[in-house]
Amino acid sequence: MGVSAEDTLNGRRILLCVGGGIAAYKALEVVRRLRRAGAQVQVAMTAGAQHFVAPLSFQALSGLPVRTSLWDDAAEAAMGHIELARWADQVLIAPATADLLAKLTHGFAEDLVTTLCLATTAPIAVAPAMNHCMWRHPATQANIALLRQRGVQVIGPDVGLLAEGESGPGRLSEPEAIVTAISGGMVPMTGGDLTGIRIIITAGPTYEDIDPVRYLGNRSSGKMGFALAESAIRRGAEVVLISGPVHLPTPEKAVRMDVRSAAQMRKEVFAAMPADIFIGAAAVADYTPRSIVPHKIKKNASEGDNLKLELIRTPDILAEVAQREDIGLKLVVGFAAETNDVADYAKRKLASKRLDLIVANHVGITGQGFEGDDNAATAYWPGGERDFAAGPKARLADDLINLILERLHA
Ligand code: PMT
Repeated sequence: MGVSAEDTLNGRRILLCVGGGIAAYKALEVVRRLRRAGAQVQVAMTAGAQHFVAPLSFQALSGLPVRTSLWDDAAEAAMGHIELARWADQVLIAPATADLLAKLTHGFAEDLVTTLCLATTAPIAVAPAMNHCMWRHPATQANIALLRQRGVQVIGPDVGLLAEGESGPGRLSEPEAIVTAISGGMVPMTGGDLTGIRIIITAGPTYEDIDPVRYLGNRSSGKMGFALAESAIRRGAEVVLISGPVHLPTPEKAVRMDVRSAAQMRKEVFAAMPADIFIGAAAVADYTPRSIVPHKIKKNASEGDNLKLELIRTPDILAEVAQREDIGLKLVVGFAAETNDVADYAKRKLASKRLDLIVANHVGITGQGFEGDDNAATAYWPGGERDFAAGPKARLADDLINLILERLHA
C-alpha cells in the first residue's frame, strides 16, 4: 500500500520554511532526505531559526543559497520572493512554532517566511514543534483546527520527551515521517508514542443472515478501520482488529479476528478486553432477522408477492463498551456515518453513548465515507471539535491517531 518517497518527490520543488525552535536542527535531516528522494529544496529561515542553526548548514545540504530576509537586494534580484512562492509546488514548515502557526492562521506577512506562505498557491504542510502546554493551549488548537479546515496538512507533533525535560505532545515528527507524509505515503513509526497501549478496533460491515444464501449488509469496505489499525501499529500500539467481512490484507503485527454478524462482533470485542482504547469504526447493522431461516426462502414462502421479515435490534457494542467501567478503558472512540445533519446527530451520539470522542463522516458525498480511498471527517469531544479536510484514509487515520493521543493525555 505504501508509496515510496522517491516515487512522488522526484523532481518536486519544495520550499522548506524553518521556524525558530530547538527542533530546527532536525530540519537539516529533512533536507537531506528530500534531496535523496530527488526533490529540489529551497530553504527559507525565520530570524528565530537562525539562532538555532546557521543558514550555511542548510545551504550545504540543499545546494542552494538560503533565503533569510525580505530585504536582501542580491537574493531578491536573483529570484524575487513572489517568484519563489510561485516556484514551489509544495511548502513545508518544519519546525512550525506556535508563533508561526498563529501568523499563518491570521494571514500575517511581516517577514520572508510568512510572506511566502501567504503568496504561495502550493499546498502547505506544517510539522509543529513546541512545549506541550503551548501545543495544548486553546489558541494553538483553534489555529490548527482552522489551518486543517483550509486544507493545510498537519504532520505530528509526536508525543514524548521534550527539550525542557517534560513529556507530552509537542515533539517534531521524525524527518523520515515528515518526508513520507508530504510524499503522500504512509507515515513510518515515529518512535513508539503508543508503545504499551492496547487498542481494540472494529472495522468493516456486519452481515446479518436471513437464510443460507441471503443477508442484510452495508457498503463498508473496512478501509477506514484498517487504516487506523496500521497507523496505530506504526506508532507502537498493540492492536486487535475485529473485522466484518472485507477483502483487505491484515496489517502487519495486528491481531485480527474475523466475524460476520453484530452478535459475533460483540462477543469478540469483549473477549479481547481489557484494552486502553476502543475505536468503533465498523458499520454495525442496527437490525438483524429475528431468526435465520434454515433453508433458502422460496418465492412462494409468503402470501402474495411480498415477503415480510421481522427484524430485531442488534446489541449496541459501542454503547455497551462505553458503559462498562470495569474494563479499564481510558478512551472510547465512536464513528458516526450520517447523510444529513451530521454535526447534530454526531453530538447526540457522543452524549447518548457516553463517548470520549466521535468521528463523524458525511457518507452521502461521492468519494467520501464508505468504500472509497478518501474520507473527510469532523471529530467531536465534550467541549471541542476538529475538522479534517478530505484526503486519503491513511492520512485521516494518522491525524485521528494524533487526536486520540492528545485526548488520551488531555
Ligand atoms: O469501511 P469504509 O468503507 O472505509 O467506510 C468507513 C465508514 C464510513 C464505515 C466509517 O468511517 C464509519 O463511519 N463507521 C461507523 C458507521 C456506523 O455504523 O455509524 P453509526 O452512526 O450507525 O454507528 C455509530 C457508532 O456505533 C459506530 O462507531 C458503530 O461502530 C457503533 N455501533 C453501531 C451499531 C451497533 N449495533 N453497534 C455499534 O457498536
